[in-house]
Amino acid sequence: MLWTAHSPAAAQSVERGAALYAAHCSSCHSADQHGDGPAHRGVVGRRAGALKDFDYSPALSASRILWTRATLKAWLRDPEALIPGQGMDYQLDQARDREDVVAYLATLKRLPSPESAAR
Ligand code: HEC
Repeated sequence: MLWTAHSPAAAQSVERGAALYAAHCSSCHSADQHGDGPAHRGVVGRRAGALKDFDYSPALSASRILWTRATLKAWLRDPEALIPGQGMDYQLDQARDREDVVAYLATLKRLPSPESAAR
């Protein structure tokens, strides 16, 4: 459960996740700015649809789902299955890709820290 930067396997997962994020998610998302999708910094541990200045679908806002590694993986596997009526038309088919992207998302800590942002 606890991710530690000192484990080589975890570091590899984060690195791979960052590359996948750049390839698959960054057209709509970034850490700190909204695009078609909401900004991701601090997403692990916050409620779905929690950012006041992003225009979420009513379904996502009403879901009250807490974003954990498990719920994020379920979301990336099939957003519509997790939250019917949601507005993200994208999914990741490979379990390892979901694992690594979520490992990367978990590094986007809420408090701005140049170190965790750079990883
Ligand atoms: C085509 C644009 C698009 C792509 C590509 C995309 N998303 Fe999204 N994402 C959205 C939209 C739009 C929403 C808001 C959905 C809603 O309001 O129902 C969203 C919502 C989310 C949320 C919920 C955030 C919150 O604040 O509740 C997460 C987490 C997320 N996306 C992760 C990802 C990840 C990780 C990827 C890459 C694997 C990705 N998305 C790719 C458009 C996209």
